[in-house]
Amino acid sequence: MLVNMIDLLNEAKVKKDAILQLNINNLEWTKYILETCNELNYPIILGVSESTVKYMGGYNTVVNVVVGLMIDLKIKIPVVLHLDHGSSYESCKDAIDAGFTSVMIDGSRLSLDENISVTSKVVEYAQKYKVSVEGEVGAILNNETKPTYASVDDCLIFSTSTGIDALAPAVGSVHGLYKNKPNLNYDIIKEISEKTGLPLVLHGGTGIPDEDIKHAVECGITKININTLLQVEWSKGVREYINSNPEVYDPRKIISSGKDKMTKKIKEIISIYNKNR
Ligand code: 13P
Repeated sequence: MLVNMIDLLNEAKVKKDAILQLNINNLEWTKYILETCNELNYPIILGVSESTVKYMGGYNTVVNVVVGLMIDLKIKIPVVLHLDHGSSYESCKDAIDAGFTSVMIDGSRLSLDENISVTSKVVEYAQKYKVSVEGEVGAILNNETKPTYASVDDCLIFSTSTGIDALAPAVGSVHGLYKNKPNLNYDIIKEISEKTGLPLVLHGGTGIPDEDIKHAVECGITKININTLLQVEWSKGVREYINSNPEVYDPRKIISSGKDKMTKKIKEIISIYNKNR
């Protein structure tokens, strides 16, 4: 069943728990993630970046791939199809019109007023279709840059002015592999959680030690986004396979040779998060 993320987030928040967003990169990844989470009866948020939307063919293709796989694989768990880091009102609208059940509008590089304005516009459109909206405050950048930290006051103004369902504040994480040790600010997480009352999202989940994740969840993180970790695991499997089978050219064999390492890692992460319950 395709759902928005409101109930999943609220349930996790009450349990002081977090749910996972795993990003998809192609059809095969979508299949592996759906099969694995279904086997574990673990509801999942499928994150799709704009570059993946483009890579896969467009919003309608992504929706049809996900819906088709859910029917053919008899997926029973709740699944959220979520646009990750939507860069404009138009891209969020395109995702919603195609059938995404959740969108993130990332206006964090704009001024606070501009961020509020574009996010509110997305919320107004999304609510008509019961689509959930995640907003961002205090840009969470990639591993080439220093981690940033959101202003608690800005988060409060942003959340009350926009009506978002989840907030991704910059709390010290970065996207991609960490060059330095992750330095999450738990005081900020706690304060933003208490003041806004919103489910909080931790971007850049790859490379954050389990204990840090656990602590962040205790302080108010309700959703954790992971992409790079699965890319690393999948590509390890593919590299090993190609190196030991240089004569193989069937793309189905090559692509699926990353499956075992990737699904093993998904099971491992889910078991860590289940232990938090
Ligand atoms: P990583 O690629 O660092 O795991 O981050 C994923 C993410 O935050 C997607 O929004």
